Amino acid sequence: MDLQELKSKFIKAFGENDNEIKTFFSPSRINIIGEHIDYNGGQVFPCAIEIGTYGIARKNSDNILRLKSLNLSKEGHVSLSPIENKEENEWMNFPLGVAKFIKERGFDIGGLDVLVYGNIPNGSGLSSSASLEVLFGEIFNTFYNKGKISNVELALIGQETENKFIGVNSGIMDQFIIANGKKDNAVLLDTETLDFEYIPFKLKDNKIVILNTNKRRELKDSKYNERRAECEEALEILQDYAEIDNLCQLTEENLELLENIENEDVRKRAEHVIMENLRVAEAVQALQNGDIETLGELLVASNDSLRELYEVTGPHLDSITKHSNDFDGCLGARMTGAGFGGCGIAIVKSDKIEEFKAYVAPRYKEDTGLEAEFIISNVGDKVHEI
Ligand code: GLA
Repeated sequence: MDLQELKSKFIKAFGENDNEIKTFFSPSRINIIGEHIDYNGGQVFPCAIEIGTYGIARKNSDNILRLKSLNLSKEGHVSLSPIENKEENEWMNFPLGVAKFIKERGFDIGGLDVLVYGNIPNGSGLSSSASLEVLFGEIFNTFYNKGKISNVELALIGQETENKFIGVNSGIMDQFIIANGKKDNAVLLDTETLDFEYIPFKLKDNKIVILNTNKRRELKDSKYNERRAECEEALEILQDYAEIDNLCQLTEENLELLENIENEDVRKRAEHVIMENLRVAEAVQALQNGDIETLGELLVASNDSLRELYEVTGPHLDSITKHSNDFDGCLGARMTGAGFGGCGIAIVKSDKIEEFKAYVAPRYKEDTGLEAEFIISNVGDKVHEI
């Protein structure tokens, strides 16, 4: 859908008036490596991609959000005074939550008419909710705050919405990369300090292929919050043996401390977190050395750990990553994001991509009965006005 078409749909939905209409884009994301450690003080390595959510917006003077989506049927208006989370609001709770936390931080909010259109496959785990949250943060920032809310703050507002308004205890990674990503770069983010660094994402003669299992993932239904609680339990036990504030302050030498954790599941979760965090630094080093083979191997090691120790993959992701990794010409594949369905990523030789798809798709279908979808996207920019 082009921008002109989106604009005419906006006018059709909300009518014409003299207020200025502005268009925004908020990307989606993949995480290259560093999974399930952004709530354990670890380093993560995501990048923004060129699919995402568009918002066509205009001020209104009614102190309400008048909303329409081209993807979801729910539409109507929600009040900004008072701001209340209601189940019947469905997706409209996301912009409402963003408004609430912008206000709580002392910034301004006000009425808006917004048409939303996303081209992120539904339930794919590519962060459609974070994309929506940061989109609305940017829209409020532009129309009511002259851009004075920083992009780091926009990410925190999005995360607060997810945690306190929607009820998913997610980390900061998704909102952060969506608010701060940069074309052709991945971001090495320290989730404890929020210090970050852009790392040019150059894969030589390879490309990232996004592997959509088409198995829907619902964070609220998933075991995401349970994993977080297990990590907290591990931390509490280990703090009796080491002076640490988070699990990612431990290294390979500390692995023997894990013997103090009686519950085997909790022990496995902690082992994943510690080792995954170490893999991130190695992966960044490999990328900077142009050693894409090693980067690929680290992706495979990450995936093995997420399957065996963290147990967040499930049969669909296991099938698609296995067949990807079996293909000669794939340097490494793993799940990306929360897991439990959703998407994987694979590093594939650019001239073998068609062969790769032809190899993986039928095998995945035979295992699961579902059609795999392959998405090739460049590394894109953070949220912005178009
Ligand atoms: C989801 C969450 C992130 C992160 C990943 C797992 O995408 O929103 O904060 O925890 O899962 O790495």
